[in-house]
Amino acid sequence: MFATAPPLDEHPGPGRAPDPADLPVAIGELRKRRRAVILAHYYQEPEIQDIADYTGDSLELSRRAVETDAEVIVFCGVHFMAETAKILNPSRLVLLPDLEAGCSLAESCPPEAFASFRARYPDHLVVSYINTSAAIKAQSDLICTSSNAVDLVRQLPEDQPILFAPDRNLGRWVQQQSGRPMVFWPGSCIVHETFSETAVLALKQAHPEAAVIAHPECRENLLDLADFIGSTSRLLSHSRSADAPAFIVLTEPGILHQMRRSVPGKTFLEAPGLDGCSCNACPHMRRNTMAKLWRCLETLEPRIELPEDLRQRALAPIQRMLAMSR
Ligand code: 13P
Ligand code: SF4
Repeated sequence: MFATAPPLDEHPGPGRAPDPADLPVAIGELRKRRRAVILAHYYQEPEIQDIADYTGDSLELSRRAVETDAEVIVFCGVHFMAETAKILNPSRLVLLPDLEAGCSLAESCPPEAFASFRARYPDHLVVSYINTSAAIKAQSDLICTSSNAVDLVRQLPEDQPILFAPDRNLGRWVQQQSGRPMVFWPGSCIVHETFSETAVLALKQAHPEAAVIAHPECRENLLDLADFIGSTSRLLSHSRSADAPAFIVLTEPGILHQMRRSVPGKTFLEAPGLDGCSCNACPHMRRNTMAKLWRCLETLEPRIELPEDLRQRALAPIQRMLAMSR
């Protein structure tokens, strides 16, 4: 399907971005010309999710990054996701529309401080959430995502002590579900820490028919209110299969676009942040826009690059995860 595309280095450089209304067609044409695949996380703007070749959670998108035969992977998500794609598929050009799209959770775990923390627990197996930099992955024994964390930890020997990083909320939930001994790096996500228990209780009272569904990065008092807890794709599939006619959704509101599209007959309510703020939108994810997506396909920048020795050390625990994931 890409037989007539020019070589990757023959690109014309930055031109004027098309008008917003013309961006979907312009992006579609460039995607073909560049032999590119567009992967989008569920927290991206609706227009980006709609134009993507694949949408998914972190685990699904990592698998897509391994399987693709496209020459260019445009990762509409945050830096650690695009970096994971590059670690898994280094021969591909991996682009992130905005290189500044980071992750508060990944940033809450600096490599030097983590190395000192880890040294205090020499008998512990290091299980790290995929929301980490390559430098943290390289210090880990096993990577997990919110969709497979409980299952992977249950596969470890029952008496194996575990150091879980960097999200203490996800870690606590995995510990409860698996009953495995754990110590936690004290990190968290600014978005999932923001949900207000009082506001969710008020929403529940106003909508008694609604089920509460939550991402495991939420604080424990919020998870205690949830009828179902899971990764973004699990929340999406649960909203399809559960009987409830309405859902109060405790995660980044980008996912509501897929929920409303896939189950149009049900009602989806965004859980507000503390004091009604709109800080439940991930500021990092929202850095990517349609115009930046167009520009990165046009210029083939910004690219994700990392030293080969670091890539290989970060690859081993990700491959272990993929091998253990069912
Ligand atoms: P998922 O893997 O559940 O999509 O989560 C990624 C993430 O960054 C949640 O904040
Ligand atoms: Fe990171 Fe939180 Fe944004 Fe997810 S929602 S990408 S964990 S900052």
